[in-house]
Amino acid sequence: MSENFTFTLKATSGKARLGEITMPRGTIRTPAFMPVGTVGSVKAMYLDQVREGGADIILGNTYHLMLRPGAERVARLGGLHELIRWPYPILTDSGGFQVMSLSGLRKLDEQGVTFKSHIDGSLHHMSPERSIEIQGLLDSDIQMQLDECVALPAEEKEIERAMEMSLRWAERCRVAFGEQPGKAMFGIVQGGDSQALRIRSAEGLKQLDLKGYAVGGLAVGEPQNVMLEMLDITLPVLPSEKPRYLMGVGTPDDILKSVARGIDMFDCVMPTRSGRHGLAFTRRGKVNIRNARHAEDMRPLDEESSCPAARDYSRAYLHHLVRSNEALGGMLLSWNNLSYYQDLMQGIRKAIAEDRFADFQAETLAAWEKGDI
Ligand code: GUN
Repeated sequence: MSENFTFTLKATSGKARLGEITMPRGTIRTPAFMPVGTVGSVKAMYLDQVREGGADIILGNTYHLMLRPGAERVARLGGLHELIRWPYPILTDSGGFQVMSLSGLRKLDEQGVTFKSHIDGSLHHMSPERSIEIQGLLDSDIQMQLDECVALPAEEKEIERAMEMSLRWAERCRVAFGEQPGKAMFGIVQGGDSQALRIRSAEGLKQLDLKGYAVGGLAVGEPQNVMLEMLDITLPVLPSEKPRYLMGVGTPDDILKSVARGIDMFDCVMPTRSGRHGLAFTRRGKVNIRNARHAEDMRPLDEESSCPAARDYSRAYLHHLVRSNEALGGMLLSWNNLSYYQDLMQGIRKAIAEDRFADFQAETLAAWEKGDI
């Protein structure tokens, strides 16, 4: 296994890229989907299943883990990998985004962000340097800069202020991170729905010569065509030899259209969260298993799936479990959904290797639109 963090581009199909990130804890096949393990657990899943389903890397959240169990405590316990029993790469988000969406009272200025814990109301401060320090204590393999993400729609002046500050924070995070050969710190492009601000953000980050670049501030209330337009404008500015990560996205349709534009990494709570709410992803679209039409349907969700949850359990049983609020219902549907996402990524990678990504995209979307059987 590589001692260093490296990204190798193996093939392209149109603008879609097939690649590999190698680092001491493992290899990440890209385009990659990273299951979200916010508090150190991919909700309702055993990590063995997450791995077997095809995940090369999972995501953790600085905000949650610093509040509970606490970054210093995780370090004393041997680091996050040891604690949660996941020896493979972990990417941690920096905390800024979660502070904005979860914590009560918060104040944000050049120094960083002061916020009230959503758990016990206690007051915390996080600077860009402290965010990197916490991610180091967690022993995270890919660390994210602290940034400020503005919800859309927003005034251009406000988007510009947040983008410029995020750029200054990127520089401070890079200094705090220093040189760590087997690890990486990624910058985050901001700039809302403004083409000019997105370009300025990407150009500013590029000058910092980081090991990877994320696109943030998307899927925050804007229509899909705006998100895609921002990718079209941003990605050509970023260096092609570095990985690109679209944060918090998305639906299978979002993923296909973003891969088509050159995105390499994704994370989203959608497969696990919607699984816990009774929604199943299949090759033929989404199935709301709570619906009465499944009550006496002994067919599985998808007899051809690689996942036992999709193949071996009847819709009638899944319906009964979800209607009864049984934990097993959420577990089986999360398993099914994560498998669906990882199989989609596997299909994407194979199609790029064979230079038929556009056909794969069209076939996958057509099967979805045809709908459930
Ligand atoms: N997750 C989804 N969007 C964002 C973003 O803009 N910034 C960060 N840090 N995390 C995100």
